Amino acid sequence: MCGIFAYLNYNVPRSRKHILDTLVKGLQRLEYRGYDSAGVAVDGGNDKNWDNNSKVIQLIKKRGKVKALQDEIYKQDLLDFDIEFETHVGIAHTRWATHGEPNAVNSHPQRSDKNNEFVVIHNGIITNYKDLKKFLESKGYEFESETDTETIPKLLKYMYDNRESNEISLSTLVERVTQQLEGAFALVFKSVHFPGQVVGTRRGGPLLIGVQSKHKLSTDHIPVLYRCGKEKKAVSTLPRVDGDTCLYPIGEETGVEYYFASDASAIIEHTNRVIFLEDDDVAAVVDGRLSIHRIKRTAGDDPARAIQTLQMELQQIMKGSYSSFMQKEIFEQPESVVNTMRGRVNFDDFTVLLGGLKDHIREIRRCRRLIVIGCGTSYHAGVATRQILEELTELPVMVELSSDFLDRNTPVFRDDVCFFISQSGETADTLMALHYCKERGALTVGVTNTVGSSISRETDCGIHINAGPEVGVASTKAYTSQFVALVMFSLMMCDDRLSMQKRRQEIISALRTLPDLIKEVLALDDQINSLAHELYQQRSLLVMGRGFNYATCMEGALKIKEITYMHSEGILAGELKHGPLALVDKLMPVIMIIMKDPTHTKCQNALQQVVARKGRPILICEKNDDESKLLAYRTIELPHTVDCLQGVLTVIPLQLLSYHLAVLRGFDVDFPRNLAKSVTVE
Ligand code: AGP
Repeated sequence: MCGIFAYLNYNVPRSRKHILDTLVKGLQRLEYRGYDSAGVAVDGGNDKNWDNNSKVIQLIKKRGKVKALQDEIYKQDLLDFDIEFETHVGIAHTRWATHGEPNAVNSHPQRSDKNNEFVVIHNGIITNYKDLKKFLESKGYEFESETDTETIPKLLKYMYDNRESNEISLSTLVERVTQQLEGAFALVFKSVHFPGQVVGTRRGGPLLIGVQSKHKLSTDHIPVLYRCGKEKKAVSTLPRVDGDTCLYPIGEETGVEYYFASDASAIIEHTNRVIFLEDDDVAAVVDGRLSIHRIKRTAGDDPARAIQTLQMELQQIMKGSYSSFMQKEIFEQPESVVNTMRGRVNFDDFTVLLGGLKDHIREIRRCRRLIVIGCGTSYHAGVATRQILEELTELPVMVELSSDFLDRNTPVFRDDVCFFISQSGETADTLMALHYCKERGALTVGVTNTVGSSISRETDCGIHINAGPEVGVASTKAYTSQFVALVMFSLMMCDDRLSMQKRRQEIISALRTLPDLIKEVLALDDQINSLAHELYQQRSLLVMGRGFNYATCMEGALKIKEITYMHSEGILAGELKHGPLALVDKLMPVIMIIMKDPTHTKCQNALQQVVARKGRPILICEKNDDESKLLAYRTIELPHTVDCLQGVLTVIPLQLLSYHLAVLRGFDVDFPRNLAKSVTVE
């Protein structure tokens, strides 16, 4: 929903300009998570004496995208941008409004009071904020924004004002505050009372910490401290590693920089050494030392957080020569599907091995039912592969929208296997559905694109789709990789079934040629662009198909709605005469997907009916389908592949069409209005 980013330099002299540029750059990388307003908090004042500067926090906030904030920062004539800080903490936020309209007051950092004693950035929702607000107002605290977040710094100040001792740490105050919060959050705090310190915590929202130091670090696993009873009696209940409870650089000057962020794309240009926080971790940097505390110890807790090395390259998240991330990601699909299959499909002996599932595959084969759960595009990947899953596993397969699945309190049993499909691995509804299924004892499988995401960590096992970072809000390459991953799973499920071998070989051979066929479809880009020129002023577009291609209709319509703001509907061709036919007339553009699979004749019937109502069918069909082409107003001709993989090819013209329509209509392709890449609230 929102993006959070913080930068701490300890014993590493940095100019204020460097600090602000780092914060702004971090926000730009996270902008896909939300982009209606943004803000930063840095040490204020222009005194050369850092002690004086750190007693004032300067907040700069602006409605609009990060660029607007950047312009606002450099308009500030109060700030000396050349002044240097040996040690400094800056926090920054890009918002996607949930409580209160997008404006400077509602944007983050939110503050405790007019003197900015405590400031916080927040991703998520505080569901009990009204009660907290009432309590704080009764104690005389005044609120200025409409946000749920503002209760947090005010509660922190309340705890600070009522502290029992001057020795209290920021991390203890934060622990106390989070114990009062309900909902989902990732939070980062800064305070004038704790200069040079930063504290971050999470519950249900992602948060990671990047570490950069020229010096050797004291450990590669930070043991987690558990508090027992009152603060003063705090002890670790776990054996400590060499007496270390924190991470710090070893060396004469011991300079170190820390980056707190919602995801790795914001920090990868600074460091690839990363610690993923778990729910209820409270991570604090004091005097350049990072320690992690937990409020209580629960069974199965990992007693340490590892410093992981990310493999992601910066160029993977840059736009390159493309005009938008979405366009780049559409054109990356020949490689991204290869990456999904790499090391997993053996085209010579027709075997598929998904390492993340191999220890559980026998249990999965014994299950009574598969439930595939996701939202938006990820849900469509489940719809697209349901038929082949049913065919190859011979199990009943339910495909569910996460929110509806929860609304219905759907019965789930111990012998069910539940798949959670999510590009980000952080979608709130899908994460809640995962908790729901875990509580009922089902085996849970994550299919995500984000290493270290909540869904990938909380599921029993899973498939990482390896599509590479997807930045455009409209999901494209993640969809085709989710699709391929689920097909691979269905192949793995039946590798010991003699009766399935012919079908398996047909599909595995088709997987081998899939990347080249995707390239062939992408080569139709100019043709699709010219179609977009014909259609971009239309108000509505219908997309029709059935069988293996019904999911393409829904996914194509979602792409069109999402970035062009045109009305669009994916229609099951079998339902045409049960209602949607009434929409068809000579003005209504209808895109029809007709492939040479078992539904071909039925799709042709639908085509006849559209033509009979003087509709203008734009056909997505196979190259040699002359019969269907005769009736078409326009055609987009695709290469042939096996029926269950056709959907990977048929969706691409619709991805390209939506992209061109959005450009022609003058919209920002990567940042559609009202939407965010990662939906971490219900
Ligand atoms: C896709 O174009 C959308 N932006 C959206 O439907 C998305 O697929 C959905 O929010 C689920 O996200 P996830 O895959 O990260 O869980």
